Parts: sequence; C-alpha cells; structure tokens
Amino acid sequence: MEVRNDRLFLGGVAARELISEFKSPLYVYEEDTIRKRAEEFKNAIYYENKEIKYACKANTNIEIMKILKEEGIGIDAVSPGEVYAALKAGYTPDQILFTANNVLWEEIEYAVSRDLMVNLDSMSHLKLFGKKYPGKDLCIRINPNVGAGHHDHVITAGPESKFGILYSKVAEIKKIAGEFGLRIKGIHQHIGSGILEPEMFIKAMDVLLDVAGNFEDLDFIDFGGGIGVPYRENEQRIDMEILGKKIADEFNRFCASYGRPLKLVIEPGRYIVAESGFLLATVISVKEGERHRFVGIDTGFHHLMRPAMYGSYHNIIHADNNDGVRKPQIIAGNLCESGDTFTRDDNGIVDRNLPIFNEGDIVCICNAGAYGYSMASQYNSRPRPAEVVVKDGKTRIIRKRETVEDIFRSC
Ligand SMILES: Cc1ncc(COP(=O)(O)O)c(C=O)c1O
Repeated sequence: MEVRNDRLFLGGVAARELISEFKSPLYVYEEDTIRKRAEEFKNAIYYENKEIKYACKANTNIEIMKILKEEGIGIDAVSPGEVYAALKAGYTPDQILFTANNVLWEEIEYAVSRDLMVNLDSMSHLKLFGKKYPGKDLCIRINPNVGAGHHDHVITAGPESKFGILYSKVAEIKKIAGEFGLRIKGIHQHIGSGILEPEMFIKAMDVLLDVAGNFEDLDFIDFGGGIGVPYRENEQRIDMEILGKKIADEFNRFCASYGRPLKLVIEPGRYIVAESGFLLATVISVKEGERHRFVGIDTGFHHLMRPAMYGSYHNIIHADNNDGVRKPQIIAGNLCESGDTFTRDDNGIVDRNLPIFNEGDIVCICNAGAYGYSMASQYNSRPRPAEVVVKDGKTRIIRKRETVEDIFRSC
C-alpha cells in the first residue's frame, strides 16, 4: 500500500482504477505482502525440521492458498469445505492436518478417507476413532489451560474454552490409545488468535511440551497459530526473530530430553494474510446527525464482520484525499442493523478523525485479509464482493462478484 500525491495505490494500482474496473465493494490483496509474511515466518523459526501450516480459515481463497503452496507452506483445515479448497489448490493429503472441533463423525471419516492426518479434540471421538480405525496414526488436540487472544471469542484454550482435551487427561488418552493400538504421532494446541504477547505463546508451549513427554510415538508437535498483527498504529508488531528463536530453543531443549528430534509445526493464519487485504467501498450517503457525521458505504458487516463481532479496529484510508484535513466521522454500513458500523468498539460507535468523506469517495478498510471474506455472509440477501490480487501494477481476479441469483441458486 502506498499513498502518492494523496492517491492510494495497492500493489501499484490506484484504488479508484480498481473500483472502476471491478466495481464496488471489492476485496483487494497484495501478493507481495502475502509472500513477505510467509517468508518472514519461515525464516524466523530457527529449526530445520519444521512445517508452517497455514490455518486457511483466515482466508480460503484458492488462489491465495496456491500462493502459499508455492511458498512451501502446508494447511490446517477445520472442515470438509476447507479440505476441499486445499485439495483444489493442489495440496497433497500429507500437507493437510484436519483439526476437528465438535464435528460430525462423518467429517472425520471424510478426512480419513482422503488420507489426512486427523487431529481429534474429544475423548468420545478418540474412542470412536479407536473402534473404527484400530492401529491408526493420529494427532490429539490438548487444552493446555493457558489461553490468549484479542477478544474472549477467540481465546481457544483455558478453563472457559470448548477446545481440546484437558492437559491433565494424559493417562486416560494413553489408556484409550493403548486399548486400540492407536499411534499418537502428533500433539497439538491452539490457544487463541491475535496474540501480541509472545510470553503467553511460550507459556502454553511449555505446558504442551510437558504433556508431549508422556507420548513415545510422536513425530511432530503442533503449537497452533495465533500470532497477531498490529491493527492500530500504536500497536507493536511481535518481533518474529526473537519469538522464532525462543520457540526453537525451547523445542531443541525438549527434543534433547525426548531423545530424538521431532518436527515442529506452527499454524499461522492471520499473520500471513491480514495485512495483505483491503476492503474498498464507495460512499453512498453522508448524513450530519445531531451528534455524528455518518458516512454510509456500500458494504457492511456481512462483508467484514470483525468490527461488529469483536469491536475490532481497522485502519481506514481515503483513496483520493489524504491531505491532512480531518473530521470526526462514523463509517457506517448498508445493513439494517445499528451495529453495522466500522468505527466502533465493543460498546458501540466511536467517532474517528478521518479525512473528509463525501458521496462518491472511496473508503479503504485496511488489514482485511484475514477473517474478512472468509467470515462474510449474504445477510440482507446482499451478494459477496469480488476478490482481486494485485502485484507490480497488474491485477488478477480471484473470485467473481456474487449475484442475487447465486444466493438463491439452491432454493
Ligand atoms: C486450530 C487453529 N489453528 C490455527 C489458527 C490460526 O489462528 P490465527 O489466524 O490467529 O493465526 C486457528 C484460528 O482460530 C485455529 O483454530
């Protein structure tokens, strides 16, 4: 992203040109940023035998998954739909981990039938798995009782969390595995999303390593994802070099005591794609209310749910005017809910000092590459936007804009 003479360029293409060509609203991804973050992640973990698995729930666009495949990154999938997308992107089964939480048994059978490593997260599924597939390899998701994340909704470990088998249940896991000759090849955790305090990641890692020491057949240990990105200007980026080295040091220490080197797996989603993505929208109406200036745009929480869902902050840029004159404004969506605003926190709307927006102007909502389109819906029967990749001044459409007919096709 670059602002030149007040005009916003994404991947070398003017935002206004993108809207002229592909219409509004529009998701735009900078390919260079995706590759840069992937490289950064790979290089930061100073451990040879490692696998970075992209948690594709962050963004399941098949073309983006292809880019990550080229970068040598695997996949963490949580549904048959995500497995389908990964296979379509060209991934082979050995590159995909199926991490199942409260899924139907049929979904586990689907994953096994496609030769995927399955990551089970309940005792009942472990028993069923043993009965159905005695002697098979599998991975177990552990709740290390340490959670972290940018919002309660995304803390996925700890006493309040529905995920994983509690770390203290090792004996029971081993008993069931032993009964059916199951081989526990992997131990997994994912403690939450949007973590900006590396200490929490390391703390949970230590718990998992303690648990892992009880299992003799391990090939890999998967520490999940969750590394956050700075959404606000004053937020500090995690120093991946320092964190990567810490992770490698802890892991090396563990492997020395375990007696052989294991594979280290990490599953970033947000870190890889969040900053590559932008949601462009057009100002449809401006209203001077009693307390606020409302800038109404042609998108809403059906296209980017994070602000309404978590009160998340996304930087907002004017595509054609960044001359410094600013005014408090509310950027509001086009859905029939008052919670449909982009300038807000958990408690409601918050005025933001932004360049003055007028009707016809283009609004750019930044850091929308993760949990943007993948959480989008057709609420209010509004079709989802197109998606475009930009690189070196060139554009490539990676998903067509939906039509109203698409929404009702299966009715
Ligand atoms: C099992 C698992 N792994 C990895 C991730 C990736 O998290 P993030 O996008 O925060 O890196 C998630 C996200 O919820 C997850 O559920």
